[in-house]
Amino acid sequence: MSLDGKVAIVTGAAQGIGRAIADTLARAGADVAVVDMEVSRAQETVAAVTAHGRRVVAIQANVAEWADVKAMAEQVLEALGRIDILVNNAGITRDGLLLRMKEEDWNAVLDVNLKGTFHCTKAVLPTMTKQRSGAMVNIASVVGVMGNAGQANYAASKAAVIGLTKTVAREYASRGITVNAVAPGFIETAMTDKLTGEARAALLTQIPLGRLGSPVDVADAVRFLVSPSAAYITGHVLHVNGGMVMV
Ligand code: NAI
Repeated sequence: MSLDGKVAIVTGAAQGIGRAIADTLARAGADVAVVDMEVSRAQETVAAVTAHGRRVVAIQANVAEWADVKAMAEQVLEALGRIDILVNNAGITRDGLLLRMKEEDWNAVLDVNLKGTFHCTKAVLPTMTKQRSGAMVNIASVVGVMGNAGQANYAASKAAVIGLTKTVAREYASRGITVNAVAPGFIETAMTDKLTGEARAALLTQIPLGRLGSPVDVADAVRFLVSPSAAYITGHVLHVNGGMVMV
């Protein structure tokens, strides 16, 4: 599953799942563009990529802003020469029951999780179509498939990311570009640190494998989908959830 000579963009790579993805792709041989809204916090990710002997560039960008994303793709090409892999990982939550959900919370989540994925996809497609090859992975969520009380905005954004994934997969298959989604279950990160002990215990009863996932569990699935081993897989949603939802 070597990624030698490939250039990967990972959004939201300063911490959590994005950091594990950047680290794992670099270990497999890829040079990595570490993209984050708070790139000043990305030193650990940058160090991990460098430790694998790969080239790295850290770029500040808000994926919700087209101007940022367009400039980011240009910077990657300038620094690393090509773009073979895009991992749309940047994501946020703004939870609340629907009646209390403010429009700004709805918009913020849709802007980052869905529009951000649209922007990054659009920004790399000219390069990938010219190369006639590329692999994209969009990070969705189990919540986009099963729904979750208190997460109407987040669940809608992640379900939409799955629809977007399948559509881009159909539109660009003839150009040698694969587009897949990884739908993590509950993973040990800053996002799930907020769970109370009680909520965590209740959650564990729903997970046949009996534990929350690790960022590396997700990163390994991404590495597979962007590798030559997955060349004949496109428009797929790979569930990484410990058996919580089986579809
Ligand atoms: P996290 O909150 O630990 O890290 C997210 C990163 O994205 C941060 O570094 C943040 O600065 C960056 N980011 C946020 N908004 C951004 C923007 N507008 N532009 C650029 N960067 C931005 O999150 P975590 O847990 O690592 O999640 C990563 C992805 O995995 C997200 O898409 C999330 O929805 C998804 N996911 C996470 C699960 C979990 O249990 N942690 C479960 C299912 C999906």
